[in-house]
Amino acid sequence: MIVKTVEWKGKHLRVLDQTELPEKMVYLNCRTREQLWEAIKMLRVRGAPLLGVIGSLSIALEAQNCSIADPKKYRTRLYDTIRYIATSRPTAVNLFWGLDRVKKVIDGAPDVSVKELREMIVDEALSVMDEDIETCRKIGDNGAALLKNNSVVLTHCNAGALATAGMGTALAVIYAAHRQGKKVKVFADETRPLLQGSRLTAWELMEGGIDVTLICDHMAASVMRDKGVSCVLVGADRIAANGDTANKIGTYNVAVLAKYHKVPFYVVAPLSTIDPAIPDGSHIPIEERGPEEITHGFGKRTAPHGIKTFSPAFDVTPAELIAGIVTEKGIVRPPFRQNIKKVMK
Ligand code: MRU
Repeated sequence: MIVKTVEWKGKHLRVLDQTELPEKMVYLNCRTREQLWEAIKMLRVRGAPLLGVIGSLSIALEAQNCSIADPKKYRTRLYDTIRYIATSRPTAVNLFWGLDRVKKVIDGAPDVSVKELREMIVDEALSVMDEDIETCRKIGDNGAALLKNNSVVLTHCNAGALATAGMGTALAVIYAAHRQGKKVKVFADETRPLLQGSRLTAWELMEGGIDVTLICDHMAASVMRDKGVSCVLVGADRIAANGDTANKIGTYNVAVLAKYHKVPFYVVAPLSTIDPAIPDGSHIPIEERGPEEITHGFGKRTAPHGIKTFSPAFDVTPAELIAGIVTEKGIVRPPFRQNIKKVMK
């Protein structure tokens, strides 16, 4: 792990404000649920697994700082906080999974005191964070088998340490292969419009001593054709029961290009990113972001006033374009519906 994205400080959460990277490492001390909601919404903390961790920790923070003494009212406040945090971003299922981990603790302990419930919730949230660190490590080890010495990987968005409490998902595979002594070269898509690829992936891979080259998103086709790309590794925000996968907008383009160039396309994600309740990708809720994220770039207006915009933050890659899903329990291969069921047992 090269960077701490979140730390539990008892009465506050210390989170790395990722909107300031790569220029500055700014940490925020979040003390209220409103601050955490804003941090999620504005992508100060982002990436599906990290959102799961932050979801659980948000409720732990509220449980810790809430001064209501009446057990019934205390519980009502916590349930209300779960619903509130759930409104921050809709696509990454990990956020709801993390909230649900804590909700189950509250549901399962109807008669305990405020003090006991508080302790149980904090314990559960800290376990979610610890488990994420361990899950990332396992994912990295499982995926490293895909990379031979001198592999060339193309990645999109940021599925690294910055997107988790641990060493990442897609980038954990690269870190693990690197640790095993394999030479790996990475092409990182810049990832318009919010540039997670250039601001975050390029930064953390450089910090990790990985050979990384930044490209604009529309260079991926020629890079695949001319630069010997061995595979594509990307993260995921939600995987449907049939393997269709929502990830950062532009991931679908990369998958189509990979198919044309016969480059295997792998999704790398923890099992908590699989949503068995969603039968296929058409049911995944896709977040739409405000127009200013595409009408402004480089600190100035880059589109005409009054222009119509469409700015989905994610797209869905059909399962048929995916060679495998690397998880903490191994690599899930097609047929996905069947094999996802098996791995979720
Ligand atoms: O909008 P973001 O930055 O939260 O989007 C993040 C992604 O799309 C990641 O690829 C995904 O969450 C996987 S992170 C391991």
